[in-house]
Amino acid sequence: MVRGLMTVSWALGGVLVCGMGWAQAPTANLRIELDKPAHAVSPTLYGLMTEEINYSYDGGLYAEMVRNRTFQDHGFGGVAHWHIEHQGNSLASMEIDRTDGPSDALQHSLMVTVKQADPANQAGVRNEGYWGMALRPNTTYKGSFYAKADSASMGPVTVALMNDNSGKAVATVSVPALSTEWKQYEFTLRTEKIETSSENHLLLAVGHAGKVWIDLVSLFPPTYKNRVNGNRPDLMELMAGMHPGFLRLPGGNYLEGDLIDERFDWKNTIGPLVDRPTHRSPWNYQSSDGMGLLEFLEWTEDLKIDTVLAVYAGYSLKGDHIAPGPALTPFLNDALDEIEFTIGDASTKWGGVRAKLGHPAPFPVKYVEIGNEDWFDKSGSYEGRYAQYSKAIKAKYPQLQLIATAPLKRMKPDVLDDHYYKRADEFFEDVKHYDTIDRNGPKIFVGEWATREGSPTTNMGAALGDAAWMTGMERNSDLIVMASYAPLFVNVNPGGMQWESDLIGYDALTSYGSPGYYAQAMFAEYLGTEVPTSSMTGGGNRFFYSVTRDAAKGAVYLKLVNASSTPQQVDVDMSGAGNVAKTGTLVSLTGSNNAETNSITAPKRIVPVKTALKAAGAKFSHTVPAYSVQVLELQAK
Ligand code: AHR
Repeated sequence: MVRGLMTVSWALGGVLVCGMGWAQAPTANLRIELDKPAHAVSPTLYGLMTEEINYSYDGGLYAEMVRNRTFQDHGFGGVAHWHIEHQGNSLASMEIDRTDGPSDALQHSLMVTVKQADPANQAGVRNEGYWGMALRPNTTYKGSFYAKADSASMGPVTVALMNDNSGKAVATVSVPALSTEWKQYEFTLRTEKIETSSENHLLLAVGHAGKVWIDLVSLFPPTYKNRVNGNRPDLMELMAGMHPGFLRLPGGNYLEGDLIDERFDWKNTIGPLVDRPTHRSPWNYQSSDGMGLLEFLEWTEDLKIDTVLAVYAGYSLKGDHIAPGPALTPFLNDALDEIEFTIGDASTKWGGVRAKLGHPAPFPVKYVEIGNEDWFDKSGSYEGRYAQYSKAIKAKYPQLQLIATAPLKRMKPDVLDDHYYKRADEFFEDVKHYDTIDRNGPKIFVGEWATREGSPTTNMGAALGDAAWMTGMERNSDLIVMASYAPLFVNVNPGGMQWESDLIGYDALTSYGSPGYYAQAMFAEYLGTEVPTSSMTGGGNRFFYSVTRDAAKGAVYLKLVNASSTPQQVDVDMSGAGNVAKTGTLVSLTGSNNAETNSITAPKRIVPVKTALKAAGAKFSHTVPAYSVQVLELQAK
């Protein structure tokens, strides 16, 4: 039946030109047979995927405040993100010294030549941070740097947090006299009653002429769970709010690097920061590697989620590959060591290294992914590379499930990683993608997917595309064991984004979730444990649903997605439960149109709203507003 016929014949750009209303789609009839479970829902269906892109770690999750702390990011002139600071008529200059650094890994440093300075007229360098440095009142900031001077008379270093606008110090500390050998100096800065702002920078200055070399300048605010070298609390909390089941780490293209030498070489990312050489990410900036393998794993521990460990498998983005066979063996051995570092107990070689680094307990890992998007490898070597990795990993760790990143002809992997970056309309069209896939093939990991609409973060239209796609994934969660949206993070400052349409945006001070973030949070919070048999007739071509049940909790979760510009009525008929409560809970995410969105300045424009569902029961009628994602929580015993 067509309700509310459109009373005009034409409209322009989605706006009704004149007349009374839009054609409303036919009522949908949804029949649910609660006593006929079709299959279980994968408990890890929704997870997280990030990598060093869009300043996701440096300038994002990883709470380091000093940008280019090891002076390896090269700008177009001068030293990127560092500036000379003169007080009074002091005089200084700076340059990179490529011959001297504090460790084998960091063999170069910043040399500051002070021609003129005294304690009242100091000279030094300032760091601008990642688009500023967020400072809050009554907060302790812990820092350190490596330094040496050309003479023992250089004296102390003044370290200060300075407000950009007033030019005044917000907090100051004096670090004892520098020695002529490389040494690490630690300091603590505490703010008092200041206004919260990101318009601040860090200053390091001396009051004596001479040469000073500095490196690995670091400053941390309080971190999530107070971890040393830890993460931003707001971004960790946003991720926790997504109720994820796992983290796929360390990427993406970031795993592979543009070149083999630029891969995520995990052994270079563990241990003291001064022993991490840093490396170039394929997203065109230097990664500090402060977010190293152990930090990734601790992140999963903090969120109490599983790890999907992706290991480098001999193919890099610009097309270089290592042929299967002896040439690949060192890379395979690195992957075996990486697995041992992650899941081996402290008596193993690499489990012992992890224990020495402060984490004796192994991390629980079920899935290991071999490479990333190896369908790009036109040499055809993946088949052989996968086989070599699979044989060796399964021999040592038969309990692990292995994920292939491209279809294989000669063997069946445990799991195949599929990626989808689409427009909302394409997802609507493809929502039944997995309904007819052969159940005798590998399980599926939708390791990257996103509705790419909206920039920097996705808009309501994208949230509808995401939600529609998620209904399809839930319906097929006997086959799809995991799925993770990508990319998750974006620093919204100019120049911060390499890939648009991300889920969570932030600057130095604040962060927010896009409408799609909330859609995912809703789907994951009300995941359920089984999919009952159901069918729907009627409904418009932009109306999608998924139904799951958690029998132990006596709950039925009905997810409804109306991506149309008109409301959609659905008549629900549930059978197979003794008693269905007459009321329930309704969680609603609604926009006024597809383009509407959240942003750093309007972070909560579109958020889920929870209300009582007044008319429920075994049979009820419900209307889903236009541009809406809804979860109906019903009690059925
Ligand atoms: O998510 C962005 C990129 O898309 C990933 O790094 C890569 O795996 C895919 O091509």
